[in-house]
Amino acid sequence: MTKWPQPLLAAFRSAEHIVALTGAGISAESGIPTFRDAQTGLWAKFRPEELATPEAFARNPGRVWAWYTWRRSLIEQAKPNPAHKALAAMERLAPKFTLLTQNIDGLHQMAGSQQVIELHGNIRRTICAENRHAVEKWEPVPEGEAPRCPICGSPLRPDVVWFGEALPADAPEAAYAASRNADVMLVVGTSAMMQPTAMLPVLAAEHGAYLVEINPQETALTEFMDAVLKGPAGKILPELVRAVWGEEIRDA
Ligand code: OAD
Repeated sequence: MTKWPQPLLAAFRSAEHIVALTGAGISAESGIPTFRDAQTGLWAKFRPEELATPEAFARNPGRVWAWYTWRRSLIEQAKPNPAHKALAAMERLAPKFTLLTQNIDGLHQMAGSQQVIELHGNIRRTICAENRHAVEKWEPVPEGEAPRCPICGSPLRPDVVWFGEALPADAPEAAYAASRNADVMLVVGTSAMMQPTAMLPVLAAEHGAYLVEINPQETALTEFMDAVLKGPAGKILPELVRAVWGEEIRDA
């Protein structure tokens, strides 16, 4: 990108509080398929909406556990990309910075981000279905079954939010508060189809925030944006950090 809109640079440079809202698209360049991308291989015949629900788990815990085991293996091999690193740098460079993410992969924290509000939980944590006991070790079970909680015996599941479930206890309030307080809100790599997340940028704009979207595609939120930077986050975010603060993001 050669020419940046002056109002965009001015908004970033004068912002007291920058808030970023990220979705699966920011991890696409780390090799993690986005939620609504085709699932591959064995899982191609299932839609995520048919696996990531309490009903699917109640019907067939072993299948849902196996799907998450596959997704966890992709995530464990993945590394943060320049987009994650650019947001970690922004946290250092801006007076105040808050990161709201729908991602469950933990790559923002691996890149060095500290103020991260995980709206949909984290796949690296495991809990039991009935009592939400946090579990780190479990007895192996035959393929097709979900392991059991060593405390209460209920099946284990990832500590993520499924369709139809409430967001984790304090996350929505913290996200609303950050959105109301934002001077700039950067919306990166989300199709913005899940509520209440999709209304956060609208809330931010109502309270005076300058809205910027980074995405190769249009989304339901594009029309509300003050600036739209169309393209992959791994390219555009490091360029933005260079343009606003003069800092280089290295992909090492
Ligand atoms: P989606 O898979 O719905 O959307 C991914 C977005 O990333 C799309 O708008 C793509 O155009 C964009 N994208 C793809 N590659 C990109 C790149 N290199 N740089 C920037 N953007 C890129 O994912 P989310 O919006 O995160 O929730 O989905 C939100 C939630 O829906 C997920 O957290 C999940 C799902 O239901 C739960 O599991 C509760």
